Amino acid sequence: MQFFSHRKHEWVLRWRVSGYTGSMHPSDPLNLTLENHHPAAFACLTEVGKRMYFPMGIPAQAVEAKAAPINATIGQLTDGLGKAMPLQAIANGIRGTSPNDATLYAPQGGRRDLREAWKARLDASGTGPKSLPFCTVGLTHGLSLLADLFVDGATDVLLPDPGWGNYRHIFETKNGGRMHRYPVFKDGVFCADAMETALKTVETTGVVVLNFPGNPTGYTPTRAEIKPWLDAIRRSEKPIVVICDDAYAGFVYDQDCLQTSPFHALCDADPHRVLAVKVDGATKELSFFGGRVGFVTFAVDGPATEALEHKIKGLARANVSTAPAISQAVVLAALRDPDLDRQQSELLALCQQRYEALRSSVQSASLQCLPFNSGFFLLLPVGGDPHALRKRLLDRGMGIVALPQYSAIRIAFSSTRTEDIPVLIKAIAEEINR
Ligand SMILES: Cc1ncc(COP(=O)(O)O)c(C=O)c1O
Repeated sequence: MQFFSHRKHEWVLRWRVSGYTGSMHPSDPLNLTLENHHPAAFACLTEVGKRMYFPMGIPAQAVEAKAAPINATIGQLTDGLGKAMPLQAIANGIRGTSPNDATLYAPQGGRRDLREAWKARLDASGTGPKSLPFCTVGLTHGLSLLADLFVDGATDVLLPDPGWGNYRHIFETKNGGRMHRYPVFKDGVFCADAMETALKTVETTGVVVLNFPGNPTGYTPTRAEIKPWLDAIRRSEKPIVVICDDAYAGFVYDQDCLQTSPFHALCDADPHRVLAVKVDGATKELSFFGGRVGFVTFAVDGPATEALEHKIKGLARANVSTAPAISQAVVLAALRDPDLDRQQSELLALCQQRYEALRSSVQSASLQCLPFNSGFFLLLPVGGDPHALRKRLLDRGMGIVALPQYSAIRIAFSSTRTEDIPVLIKAIAEEINR
């Protein structure tokens, strides 16, 4: 049958050119199965349907490490023994939510009181024009809506390298954008000219993703380091959308690095050149991972604000419709809790303690890691096969994530007890040096 159009082959070619090293596209076996076992389903697949597959990334490795006594795989905050560490304000919100707030529909785009409360948080970190934050079902949903608004086959998408694997799935597999990776580091330090160089690849329009603190790097630049990036963005010759993925906002352990999102510095960019957008939410910031409350905020004012609100609301209406009311009520209750700041500081102090334990353990073991100063992770380049190292550590009851594309492993100190960190690092050093 002739259902594999030459467009599909073009797609595979592009996938390979953009760095995929497998001999076939990950969707090929699925398409073949459908072609053989359900020809009608196969024949009706759209282009995105043909490209789609479930990436076996970090969640799959986390499942394998589920029983490991030390599990540093997944980017969520736990007590290090697999138990959640909810902020009391969130726990109180869960207990106190009324049946009305929990069971009736929330308005499209989110509760206005919640959106206003989130905006007040953003205004406290930086002035400049901002739309009312649009409530999404977690940050991934926000990124996906932005992909639907701004990315198709003619869009150049600039992604951090190293960067979160799901970006590629959202912007390339789903929306068919042209991926370009820009280096966050060069020779082990922040790469000052990365953005200027990367922006030259934008042919018509572009989307740039900034992610600080970064996943998987755990890095946030200093004000001086980010300056050439922001200058290059402001001067962009082609119209671009700059998405600041601030999933790990606030988890910064070094006074020298940026304490707030680069979004705030881009709010006044020339609207002929740049639209800055902030994607953030309660997932990590309020340790409410299962709550699925995210926000999208555009750096706009005037009539464009309402036009963009209409567009994003229309898109959300066409996929999840309104976000869950119960989670929105819980986040709102937490934001109104006068003790929230103190509770967040306490959580931050715990993360700082783990971070410092990791820094000193890595130093004592003389391991050469990439710079890290924030967020939930450390990225450690390893000679040899990171998956083989991961398996050996699993045999010793320790879970980490292998990232073969970076010849590195990722250690999530967010889910590791302070006292386990030296044990884990010692084992990693032994396995690397054996
Ligand atoms: C950089 C980054 N952005 C976005 C997300 C997605 O957040 P959410 O779980 O709210 O969809 C994650 C989750 O790990 C992340 O690491």
